[in-house]
Amino acid sequence: MSYMTIEDTIGNTPLVQLKRIPSNLATQRNNIILAKLEGNNPAGSVKDRPALSMILAAEKRGQIKPGDTLIEATSGNTGIALALVAAMRGYKMTLLMPENLSVERRQSMAAYGAQIILTPKTGGMEYARDLAEKMQAEGQGVILDQFANPDNPLAHYTGTGPEIWRDTNGAVTHFVSAMGTTGTIMGVSSYLKEQNSQIQIIGAQPEEGSQIPGIRKWPEAYLPKIFDAARVDQVISVSQANAEHMARKLAIEEGIFAGVSSGGACDVALRLAETVENATIVFIVCDRGDRYLSTGIFPA
Ligand SMILES: Cc1ncc(COP(=O)(O)O)c(C=O)c1O
Repeated sequence: MSYMTIEDTIGNTPLVQLKRIPSNLATQRNNIILAKLEGNNPAGSVKDRPALSMILAAEKRGQIKPGDTLIEATSGNTGIALALVAAMRGYKMTLLMPENLSVERRQSMAAYGAQIILTPKTGGMEYARDLAEKMQAEGQGVILDQFANPDNPLAHYTGTGPEIWRDTNGAVTHFVSAMGTTGTIMGVSSYLKEQNSQIQIIGAQPEEGSQIPGIRKWPEAYLPKIFDAARVDQVISVSQANAEHMARKLAIEEGIFAGVSSGGACDVALRLAETVENATIVFIVCDRGDRYLSTGIFPA
């Protein structure tokens, strides 16, 4: 008898159809909207996939070994996921994040034994990333660098993409993902377009002035190195207010308790569903809503 390990529970997340939120127009146009529930991963987000992929691949290449210290600048979910995988495989984990990110995230990382360094909120993620580089240069640990590491999109090329293709029986016509490191959209796009080059890949990003945890409209100089604009057919902006509204609506009308970036991706998928016909639109639910309780976006 051989049993599963926690590692085996990463991936193969459910793909579920929205039943109540889609407008009459979207339904009359014979469109199906499917949510891929990445919050069902063991550390609660889509980031469990690249965290496992980056650590296993670096181990295989002999770049790291259990007992080493890993360093990462992360807006939250990657930190929690890396902390899980580091705990699973015996690494020390140091995480750098802006001080204004939600307290649940910090507590979850600490629960998995990670050390957390808070950086000034005025410097944003750019400051945290620069400090991580400095620490690596000083020999304090190894950066996996989710923004430049091909093993990040690879996790979605070998996992998320094939799962969507399999679970729609190849019927998927549109894929919508919020963009942070862009690992999800890059990896899924590569896989799906190899199966059917007609599949449309749509990125969701916060509109100017909106703040949505985990995703960014990157300044040119900080665009993730793994990003290739040719793999995205369309980028659609979403406001923070609409993303938060849709996160609440997903919970109340569909029973899907998801984070704000998932609300943003859902908003984009629904707008798209009013403009196309006979489409099967898949969007990513990146994480769970309980990760945002202290932010007050789900009022009691
Ligand atoms: C809440 C949330 N949404 C979306 C994303 C974007 O995923 P990706 O980095 O694969 O673009 C992230 C990434 O960390 C995230 O934490």
